[in-house]
Amino acid sequence: MPDDRTLGYEGYDPADERLREALCTLGNGYFATRGAAPETAAGPSHYPGTYVAGVYNRLTSTVAGRQVDNEDIVNLPNWLPLRFRTLGTGGDRPGPWFSPDDGSLIEYRQTLDLRRGTLTRRMRLRDTRGRLLTVDQVRLVHMGDPHLAALRTEFTAEGWTGELEVESALDGDITNAGVDRYRDLDGRHLTEWRTGPAEPDTIWLDCRTSESGIRVAMAARSRTVSDTPAAVRLLPAERGVAHLLTLPIGPGRPVAVEKTVALHTSRDPASGDPLHAAIGRVRGAADFAGLLASHSAAWEHLWQRTELDVPGEAGRILRLHLFHVLQTLSPHTARLDAGVPARGLHGEAYRGHVFWDELFVLPFLNLHLPEVSRALLMYRHRRLGRAVGAAAEAGRTGAMYPWQSGSDGREETQTLHLNPRSGRWLPDHSRLQHHVGSAVAYNIWQYSQAAGDTDFLHGPGAEMLLQIARFWAGSAVWDPAHDRYRIRGVVGPDEYHDAYPGAAVPGLDDNAYTNVTAAWVLCRALDLAAALPAPRRHELFGRIGLDPAELELWEDVSRRLRVPFHRGVISQFEGYGDLAELDWDGYRERYGDIRRLDRILEAEGDTVNRYQASKQADVLMLGYLFSPAELSGLLARLGHTLDDDTWRTTVDHYLARTSHGSTLSGLVHGWVLARTRPAGAWKYVQEALTGDIADLQGGTTAEGIHLGAMAGTLDLVQRGLTGLETRDDALWFDPAPLPELAEYGFSVRYRGHRGIGLSMRAGHLRISVPASDRTPVHVSVDGSDITVPPGATRRLDLPGR
Ligand code: BGC
Repeated sequence: MPDDRTLGYEGYDPADERLREALCTLGNGYFATRGAAPETAAGPSHYPGTYVAGVYNRLTSTVAGRQVDNEDIVNLPNWLPLRFRTLGTGGDRPGPWFSPDDGSLIEYRQTLDLRRGTLTRRMRLRDTRGRLLTVDQVRLVHMGDPHLAALRTEFTAEGWTGELEVESALDGDITNAGVDRYRDLDGRHLTEWRTGPAEPDTIWLDCRTSESGIRVAMAARSRTVSDTPAAVRLLPAERGVAHLLTLPIGPGRPVAVEKTVALHTSRDPASGDPLHAAIGRVRGAADFAGLLASHSAAWEHLWQRTELDVPGEAGRILRLHLFHVLQTLSPHTARLDAGVPARGLHGEAYRGHVFWDELFVLPFLNLHLPEVSRALLMYRHRRLGRAVGAAAEAGRTGAMYPWQSGSDGREETQTLHLNPRSGRWLPDHSRLQHHVGSAVAYNIWQYSQAAGDTDFLHGPGAEMLLQIARFWAGSAVWDPAHDRYRIRGVVGPDEYHDAYPGAAVPGLDDNAYTNVTAAWVLCRALDLAAALPAPRRHELFGRIGLDPAELELWEDVSRRLRVPFHRGVISQFEGYGDLAELDWDGYRERYGDIRRLDRILEAEGDTVNRYQASKQADVLMLGYLFSPAELSGLLARLGHTLDDDTWRTTVDHYLARTSHGSTLSGLVHGWVLARTRPAGAWKYVQEALTGDIADLQGGTTAEGIHLGAMAGTLDLVQRGLTGLETRDDALWFDPAPLPELAEYGFSVRYRGHRGIGLSMRAGHLRISVPASDRTPVHVSVDGSDITVPPGATRRLDLPGR
């Protein structure tokens, strides 16, 4: 493994702190904690946050004179607090508590070590009497035992003798206040605090969420490692509790405080009272060195399962992306009832909700941690009943998955959103993005193909897929004027367009992305209905009341859904071609960054709905999801010829009219251009790579990383550049080489094969199958099929493009 697995910062910069906190978050798929300084509380430069996957709470607030309900992932009690101050000898008055903002820092370095999964800080500071103190701190959120975290802080006095006071606390006085735009919403989710001591060195805090009633308990053990034992005092408070340690310190006698924390909630599987669980777990926890060893071993194992070898800067960023993906969705997630949070467990943007972003995440996981993909699909399956209910309420059939999903699968999309530029609260119609259902269906199919999991496909997978197909068939309305089925009143992935200019009702007709993916869903549902063993088909059809005659409608709709075209390109939706052209250069000149063109235009009293201007890939998403052959096949089935020229013209058309207001946009454009116009692809791939590390969307990363874009860049190497498909019991490749990313390697898990090695080097692809595997792997490249037996490596020369 190359050695550049670190993200380092020299110097302290309060303006950069919230971004660093997000990028230095530590987590284990069960919970995560932002990389906030333990000496600080929430404020303009700091935002400590701890989030457990799937722990939500709902509150009602009054916004713009209206009552609005919001469900949020809850910022839980803060386990980090550890502050310190120096005393002289003989118990004289202590100096002030140290803060990185108080001007005493003379040296500061912070390093995120991806290999070990630790965040370290080294600080040198001068106290108010001019004495120098060095502080070395390491923290971890345990990847082996998902309920544990630890913080070790070592203090070294430089040439002086005295005392040090260290306060190690659990702070329950926490609100959700991490996103400025949500400041008008109530963020007080915690209630009923109780605190106390458990053992002489252990404190605990117990509270619950106000509406969802989830109990959250933490226990913290604080021990000193020094020659002379510390004096310990308990400091109870209403919403928190602390231990105050007084430590003698002198030159050449560093002292350390090890804080070990356990976190449990009443949502944990196989666990009883969360407080007993937390106290018991911390009691049995090893010391810091022991925890670090078991934690690093768990990470080493994970890195092996997700091997990725990409040279240079791209490789460095990709490993950071992989690290954050694994911290959000790890094998521990597979035990939970939780979905894919769009912003990781790294912040409060989008309130921890689950969107369609799993479309960019699961295809990567399918080939490394299939059990995690399956669990994430089960999150959707448990909410199928709710989606069926939502469709019925809307007068539709089948399952209508919500655009934003949280605890119980109801629609969580807000009804109003704030334009920070104009200060106006505006109606939010993004819930009309019913295409989220097709994302679920796509993942069901991809997962089942990659993992060979027929039990899932014929079981929960079929229940979802058939109901999603049914929703599309039922949503399609026959229009004799066009001699086509139409799906009307939707919003596509480009969220800028949510209505026709001047229209009284929101929604657009014939969104090409929605319709082509709906046709694909119908085709897969028909395939699956035919493949189900007869008793299962009978049972399932009977249970959901599916008449085989409905399948005839599915067949018909899958061939006759409308896909609009204008001037030789696929139209994003009916009427798109009639919209005005935007003066892109003029707006760029005036505003510089025009990613959020929707906000700019609204603040000017205009609306983006009037223009041919998109936030992110919409039509072009089709080139992301489907190989060129599959896409032209789908369109042919719908009665259209999609040749290379038409596709290329379509790509150019939208490329010139997209503002990339979502991190997903650069990713999709890079992916699609790698196949159509490779010379232009790298710029977008780089946007996707640097989106979070350079905070390209201007301040949004501090509110949480963009998980879809991070996982998507990993999948760009895995499937995008290789053209890898898993179907018909074989691995298919159709490489699209990018000169800037021409050599790489990774390993995949595929249908029970562990660690199939793949590497791309100048003009050839090398595939090796581990000797421990029992069966060979079938591979197809450029029309030739080969079989690689266990223990063998094969080299395939690739056709020039
Ligand atoms: C994007 C959506 C995405 C959401 C959550 C939005 O900005 O437009 O496509 O699902 O963020 O990541």
